[in-house]
Amino acid sequence: MITDFQDWARSRQVRIETSLQTLLPPANVAPERLHDAMRYTVLGGGKRVRPLLAFAAGELSNADEERVTIAAAAVELIHAYSLVHDDLPCMDDDVLRRGKPACHVAYDEATALLAGDSLQSLAFQLLGEYRLADTPQMQLEMVKRLAQAAGSRGMAGGQAVDLASVGESLTLPELEFMHIHKTGALIRAAVILGARCGGSLNESQSTGLDHFAKCIGLAFQVVDDVLDAEATPATLGKTAGKDAENNKPTYVSILGAGRARELAEELRCDAYQSLEVFGTMAGRLRQVTDFIIRREF
Ligand code: IPE
Ligand code: IPE
Ligand code: MG
Ligand code: MG
Ligand code: MG
Repeated sequence: MITDFQDWARSRQVRIETSLQTLLPPANVAPERLHDAMRYTVLGGGKRVRPLLAFAAGELSNADEERVTIAAAAVELIHAYSLVHDDLPCMDDDVLRRGKPACHVAYDEATALLAGDSLQSLAFQLLGEYRLADTPQMQLEMVKRLAQAAGSRGMAGGQAVDLASVGESLTLPELEFMHIHKTGALIRAAVILGARCGGSLNESQSTGLDHFAKCIGLAFQVVDDVLDAEATPATLGKTAGKDAENNKPTYVSILGAGRARELAEELRCDAYQSLEVFGTMAGRLRQVTDFIIRREF
């Protein structure tokens, strides 16, 4: 079963990498330095968890994989942009990302800023360029969903709370709010967009899938907090201990690593329960869930 998942994940990771290579502007087209920075940021790294979630969710609605690939690429471009900006000196001031110098280190701050901006625009360009849903209304819903997930009521809003929380001791509900926004929103969008590339789900399926996506989005950042405290830069490909160094409130600083891991397991159970309505069709999604909760990087 594990090998089966590894083979499946590997093939989808290759698929998304190949597509991103052609969807990104070539590095020899002007402005070369900006295009080079965009490619440097997106290609050849990352776990591609959001695309894996989109592919697995697409299986629930018999979605065409060509469509899911574009939707997943759009989400991954937004994610890559968020990482470039997250590493900037005005945010987390981090120098290592995906095992190599962060974009602002490899290029410069202005280029990193513009690369992030351009990756975000490219994501929405793709959603406008390719047919991804059965109806134009559904496709517009997908655009809206991704925009909300990326904006002030999603990722960017969560990042604002994160920066405002430096040195503060948040309550658990406040911490949950921050995590659900800065990381959860985009993960949730990856699941929903993947499923919407296929046939429509009934109401209990839609509710179950959305609850699943919410649980897994929060769990992802809880595990990220634990890994920041416990893993090494060699396995993470990014600086370890950065949250404590930057005085950020996290699930580890507030609950301790042991309780944070337990919470991730509880969210896994909750996520599994939400998938019951899909029976065996959600097998892949359960495997991606296990990967998210039990990963070591
Ligand atoms: C890291 O995300 C940033 C967070 C939102 C926690 P990932 O752990 O998915 O990073 P990559 O894409 O694998 O590098
Ligand atoms: C980042 O959270 C969330 C986004 C990039 C939106 P972190 O700051 O914890 O991510 P890492 O640990 O640097 O990857
Ligand atoms: Mg951050
Ligand atoms: Mg960071
Ligand atoms: Mg982190």
